Amino acid sequence: MLSGKIISVISGKGGVGKSTVAANLAVSLSRQGKSVALIDFDIYGSSIPSMMNISFGPKSMNNKIIPVDSHGVKIMSMGFIVKNNDPVVWRGPMLGKVINQFINEVIWGPLDYVVIDMPPGTGDVAMDVNRLIPSSHQLLVTTPHPTASHVAERAGKMASSNNHKILGIVENMAFFQPPDQDAKYYIFGKGGSEQLASKLGTELIAQFPIFAPKEDDFEPSIYKKGSYLFDKYNELADKVQDSIA
Ligand SMILES: Nc1ncnc2c1ncn2[C@@H]1O[C@H](COP(=O)(O)OP(=O)(O)OP(=O)(O)O)[C@@H](O)[C@H]1O
Ligand SMILES: [Mg+2]
Repeated sequence: MLSGKIISVISGKGGVGKSTVAANLAVSLSRQGKSVALIDFDIYGSSIPSMMNISFGPKSMNNKIIPVDSHGVKIMSMGFIVKNNDPVVWRGPMLGKVINQFINEVIWGPLDYVVIDMPPGTGDVAMDVNRLIPSSHQLLVTTPHPTASHVAERAGKMASSNNHKILGIVENMAFFQPPDQDAKYYIFGKGGSEQLASKLGTELIAQFPIFAPKEDDFEPSIYKKGSYLFDKYNELADKVQDSIA
């Protein structure tokens, strides 16, 4: 059985950083001593296994699944079971079966938080997942670009119409600041996320800059101790816990 508070990471558009936010938030919460699960329900573009540098799938015991452990986080991913399947078969009942399996047939143990990496957008799959998981606290990820925040508005409205509560907006790729410079470059524009927050009656709870990975980093999506984003994700973990409590 799945216990703990559910935090779903959602977005309007794809590629805005949901998986990055979900993975780093889960790792930060775990570093703070919480028991954390990370579930990747993104059927089309499951990326948690590669982001978390996981090269093997889950094992099973007595017909139950043992989640994969990485960075102290218990992980289940659609990527562990979907190989080259036609995505269409995952609609409706089949998707429901897998979600049910992830919730009921995995040996999770006691959990404080469950972070869910959702499929992008407001399409059928996102709607199905939203409907099938119990009520959650949602983090809406967007870039500052007006188109991204416009589409994110729809996702936010869908979330609140479905018994899910929006915790706040995370603005990813907010700006670029060259190393050793004070100047910030707002490559994807500015202000879209504040507008979105006020439209949805929520707040902008984090702004993460564009981060250029180092060439020799084999796991560039998980931010390392000593980096600016490592500290920022700790702050986000604090805020999320405060607002859920
Ligand atoms: N702040 C950032 N700076 C630089 N690159 C980033 C940042 N956030 C995410 N990325 C990169 O952008 C790409 C998309 O990010 P990610 O996969 O997290 O988005 P997503 O919303 O989960 O995408 P999808 O909709 O395909 O699931 C990845 O290659 C990721 O490493
Ligand atoms: Mg993703």
